[in-house]
Amino acid sequence: MKKIIIANWKMKLGIKESIDLTKKIKNDLIKQDAKIYDKILAINDKWKKRLDLVICPSFVSLSEIKKIIANTGIYLGSQDIFWEEKGAYTGEICASMLKEAGAKYVIIGHSERRKHLKETDEMANKKLKLAFEGGLIPILCIGETFEERKEERTDCVIIKQLLNALENIDIKKDKELIIAYEPVWAIGFKAGKAIEPAEADLSAKIIKNSLLNLFSQKFIDNNIKIIYGGSVSEKDAKSFLDQPNICGALIGTASLDAEKFLKIIKSIN
Ligand code: PGA
Repeated sequence: MKKIIIANWKMKLGIKESIDLTKKIKNDLIKQDAKIYDKILAINDKWKKRLDLVICPSFVSLSEIKKIIANTGIYLGSQDIFWEEKGAYTGEICASMLKEAGAKYVIIGHSERRKHLKETDEMANKKLKLAFEGGLIPILCIGETFEERKEERTDCVIIKQLLNALENIDIKKDKELIIAYEPVWAIGFKAGKAIEPAEADLSAKIIKNSLLNLFSQKFIDNNIKIIYGGSVSEKDAKSFLDQPNICGALIGTASLDAEKFLKIIKSIN
């Protein structure tokens, strides 16, 4: 299965900074040796065979980034979505708006939203439904806190989050789902040492096994990717992605530095 690398820029870059960083990444990955009728002919596209690359900037930057990455094979993702398609919901953004702005993917249930905005599994469930209906590929984030890990409750916490979020969700044969295992305590580099790749892989395996309650093995193998997120850096990205059950990474801090992020992309084979 093709691996996936997703950059989560959180609320860290303004529009101009997002444009600059996207251009740095694009100019390195896409050699614009020829321009035919305004279409970029990508010569240096070896990385595309190995992985899908997704950038998730803030809502306000989506449209600008869409223009920069047009015809490059780099995809755009949003950091959130609302669970209704239209109506009086001040401040919210629906699937069709995100698609119009260029998004193909959407992050749902990130632990920072669960913590600061009190988002619940039930909300994640409603957002997943709308994302699928709206033709976006959801990136569902689940993961335990440090306390939950200390109390050896990691497995039951992640299984509960997973099954609650996917309750009554009917995923059509042609749809994809990405599940990001993100231990809350490993996010943001502040927490000290990140998780060992083998431990992250064990959680990914538990997630995969739990999915068998809902989907066939064939569907899981073909349509669902389990990825890891939490302090992934250019030094350890490969060791996470080499694990048998981990098919990609959701990267915050290290994706804000073009050089580090490009090193990660090039380290994946
Ligand atoms: P981090 O963030 O790479 O800075 O730990 C990952 C995430 O929150 O998705």
